[in-house]
Amino acid sequence: MLNEIRTYLKSSRAYLIAGFLFTIVVIVTAIIITKDTTTAIIFSAILFIIVTLFLFMIGRKRNQELDQIKTIVNNIRTRVYKSVDEIVLSEDLITLETAIKEMYEKSKNDIEYLERLQIMRSQFIANVSHELRTPIFTIQGYIETLLEGAINDPKVNYQFLMKANQHTINLSNLINDLIDISMIESGEMRMSFRYFGVNDYLTTIIEEIKPLAEERGLELVYNPVRDGLEIFADKNRLKHAFVNIIHNSIKYTEHGKVEVLVEEAHKSVIFTVRDTGIGIPEASINRIFERFYRVDKARSRSVGGTGLGLAIVKHILEAHNSEIEVKSVLNKGSEFRFKLSK
Ligand SMILES: Nc1ncnc2c1ncn2[C@@H]1O[C@H](COP(=O)(O)OP(=O)(O)OP(=O)(O)O)[C@@H](O)[C@H]1O
Ligand SMILES: [Mg+2]
Repeated sequence: MLNEIRTYLKSSRAYLIAGFLFTIVVIVTAIIITKDTTTAIIFSAILFIIVTLFLFMIGRKRNQELDQIKTIVNNIRTRVYKSVDEIVLSEDLITLETAIKEMYEKSKNDIEYLERLQIMRSQFIANVSHELRTPIFTIQGYIETLLEGAINDPKVNYQFLMKANQHTINLSNLINDLIDISMIESGEMRMSFRYFGVNDYLTTIIEEIKPLAEERGLELVYNPVRDGLEIFADKNRLKHAFVNIIHNSIKYTEHGKVEVLVEEAHKSVIFTVRDTGIGIPEASINRIFERFYRVDKARSRSVGGTGLGLAIVKHILEAHNSEIEVKSVLNKGSEFRFKLSK
C-alpha cells in the first residue's frame, strides 16, 4: 500500500513542486490573514492532506495511462492486433490514440509491402533458376548422348544438334528478357520519345513477323491507315511490345488469322491485335501480365515461352502512360488493345 502511494506520488512529481509551492503560499497567506498560528497549522495540515490526495490521484491516473500505452506498444510489437479498431485509449488521450492508429496503419502497410516484396523476390529467383535449369539440362542431355556415340549415328546426330541449338536460342531469349525486366524495374530503361509515322513502322514489323505466321499456316493482316498519321512514342521499345503481342497471337493460334488494327481518335491512336486462337480463361486474364505466369506451362514452354513477354509489354506501355486491355473468349480468340498519343 505504502509502496503504491509512493509510486503514484513519484509519478506525479511533475506536479509535486507546484503542489507544495501552492500549499506554502496558502499557509503563509492563512497566517497573515488569521494571525493565529494554531488555526493556520490546522488549516495547513488539512490543505497538505488534500494536496497529497490530489497528487496521489494524478499519479494513479498517469500510471494507468502509461500502462495502457505500454500494453498497446507491446501488442503492436508482438502483432496481437488484427485491426486498428482494437487500439483504444482513454477519452483524454484521444489525440494520442489517433496518432498511434496512424502510425500502426503505416507500419502495418510497410511491413506487408516488405513481406510481399520478399516473397516476390524468392519466387522470382526460384522461377529464374527453374527456367534456366530446363534448357541447360536439355542441352547437356543432347551433348552427352552425342558424346556417348550418337555423334556417329547419322539418323539422330543432326537432329540432336538442331534441338540443342534451339534450346540455346530459348536460353538466350530468356536471358535477354530477364535483362530487360530488371532494367525496366530498376528504372534504368531510358525512353526516347519522338514522332514517327504509323504506317511504315507497322508495315516493317508485320513484314518481319510474317514468315513466322506463314510457317504456322496463319494469315497475318494489317490494314494500313492514312499516310501521315504519326504517334509520339519510343520506336524501339514499342516495337518490342508489338512483337511480343503479335508473337503471342501467332503462338497461341492454331488456325485462322492474326489482325493488327489501327483506329484514329481525337488525340490518340488505338492499336488492336486480334487473333482467332485458343483464348484465355477468364480467371487468368488478370494474371497474364505477371512475370512467369503462363496459362498452360507445358504448352507455353513447348512453343518456347517463359511468361515474361507480357510483363515486358505492360512495363513498356506504362512508360508510355498507357494501359493494355484484354478481351478473350476460350477457343474463339483474344484481343489486346492499347492507346498511344498522337
Ligand atoms: N494471344 C493469346 N492467346 C492465348 N493465350 C495467350 C495469348 N497471349 C498470351 N497468352 C497467355 O498468356 C501467357 C503469358 O504470356 P507471355 O507473353 O507473358 O508469356 P509466354 O508467351 O508464355 O512466354 P514469353 O513471351 O516470355 O516467351 C501465355 O503463356 C499464354 O498462356
Ligand atoms: Mg509471349
